[in-house]
This record gives sequence, structure tokens and C-alpha cells, in this order.
Amino acid sequence: MKNKKTPIEDNFKFAIEENQLQANSMKLVRVEGTPVLLIKQGGQIFAIDNRFPHMGCGFSGGTLDGFTVICPCHDWRFSLQTGEYENEKAFKLVFYRFKISDGKIFVEINS
Ligand code: FES
Repeated sequence: MKNKKTPIEDNFKFAIEENQLQANSMKLVRVEGTPVLLIKQGGQIFAIDNRFPHMGCGFSGGTLDGFTVICPCHDWRFSLQTGEYENEKAFKLVFYRFKISDGKIFVEINS
């Protein structure tokens, strides 16, 4: 009989060591080829798709202002808490689920 895989083995792929993500900062990683922007702010970690929902600019070239991520291309401001663009709620960040295990961050990437 085969061993059952854990959820981490099934869906969550290694991204980085947790201690590589500094407080109040963003770090771009590729998880299974997908650009994921990891953010640590206010003691929380967020994992978002690096590709902007507007015209595809990468958030990683932007800035972090508290719980707001600002796109480098047209300065659109997105809330990490709601995911919404401040002027048009239809535009939203794409969040990835993640887990932390043994000091490592694993991001769920659906193929
Ligand atoms: S591409 Fe980011 S705001 Fe336009």
C-alpha cells in the first residue's frame, strides 16, 4: 500500500527559507515557474501573483507602503488586506495560499 502524501507534498511547493524574507519587505521568487511576490508586513506574510491585473507589470519593481502595494507602472495602489485596487474594486490582487513548515515557506501553485 502506498503512503499517503501530505498536503505540502501534494500542493505546496518550496519557495524560500522564512528567514530570507525580511520584515517590511517584498521578495520575488519563482515557484514551479510562477512569479510569486512574498511580502512580510506587520508580522504577517502575504503571497501574491507578481503580475499586475492591469497591464501585466511586475509588482516586484514597485513599492510597499504599509499594507499597500504600489505598482511601478501607473502607481495603482492595492491593499494587502482586501486585495482591492483603491479606485476600482474590480481589480484585485491574486493571493496564493502558503504554509510554513520547519522554517520554510511553501506556496500552493495549481498547475
Ligand atoms: S500595470 Fe500596474 S497599474 Fe498599470
